[in-house]
Amino acid sequence: MSANTPQSALITGNSSGLGLGFTEVLATAGARVYGMSRRGCPEPRIAGDERVDLGEFDTIAPAMDRLLEGVTRLDLVILNAGLLGHIQRMPDAPMEELRLLMDVNTFANKVILDRLLAREIEVGQIVAISSGAAVFGNAGWSGYSLSKAALNMLMQLYSHEFPGVPVHSLAPGLIDTAMQDYLCEEADSETFTALQRIKAARGTRTMPDPQTAAQDVLDILPRLREQPSGSFVDIRALNDPEEYARLTGRR
Ligand SMILES: NC(=O)c1ccc[n+]([C@@H]2O[C@H](COP(=O)([O-])OP(=O)(O)OC[C@H]3O[C@@H](n4cnc5c(N)ncnc54)[C@H](OP(=O)(O)O)[C@@H]3O)[C@@H](O)[C@H]2O)c1
Repeated sequence: MSANTPQSALITGNSSGLGLGFTEVLATAGARVYGMSRRGCPEPRIAGDERVDLGEFDTIAPAMDRLLEGVTRLDLVILNAGLLGHIQRMPDAPMEELRLLMDVNTFANKVILDRLLAREIEVGQIVAISSGAAVFGNAGWSGYSLSKAALNMLMQLYSHEFPGVPVHSLAPGLIDTAMQDYLCEEADSETFTALQRIKAARGTRTMPDPQTAAQDVLDILPRLREQPSGSFVDIRALNDPEEYARLTGRR
């Protein structure tokens, strides 16, 4: 394990996709990883795992108390769990769906951070997995964009509650996960044209598999710590500023 590799981490949403990728990469490096999701984590080397629906706020603190019993420090907290919802026009977005996205993608993270504070767990770094959709605002991105934009501000606000701890929201770029099955195969790319760039990226190095993307995010953590605490960072802006400029010019 290198000096920079976290030795302990809490990863939410680690039953699949990027969260499972983080868990696998960190477990391989010898870290103690604790996770929360509804389905549970299939990685056998996980140190602790709780099945919890993060949309059910009342169940989060008891689950964290069971999960983190005896844990006094977490080198890394990755707030990764997230839902996509539907790609749709805003007038078509049901309020119940918008509420669910805000609950899981945004407010559940308030409950988790509050519990870490209440338990007085020392934390080395906090990263919330956001999205380019938090700032691009392309047609169709609906509650997902809203919830990720609110997540960015939530992290800025919580940066004041964790003095001395680097707190960031991070867009990880495109990753070939279950979310992409919906975006590339089911959503209407004729109406919502931003999807065409995403579909074209599938199967290319622009959309890595979850383990590769997880390693990319872990590799960027030291540079992330140099950014002002509370800020939103897109990994593409750090790794490939020209590509990021092209991307934002295309919105
Ligand atoms: N894939 C991309 O291209 C991409 C791009 C930008 C940002 N992201 C972000 O990356 C993060 C991971 O997404 P992914 O692409 O890896 O998709 P994914 O495979 O669908 O993973 C989502 C994870 O979130 C968990 N989750 C969802 N709702 C939950 C709930 N109510 N309670 C507990 N856990 C819940 C899921 O676990 P359970 O279903 O077991 O509960 C799952 O482990 C998300 O925040 C997403 O917004 C993804």
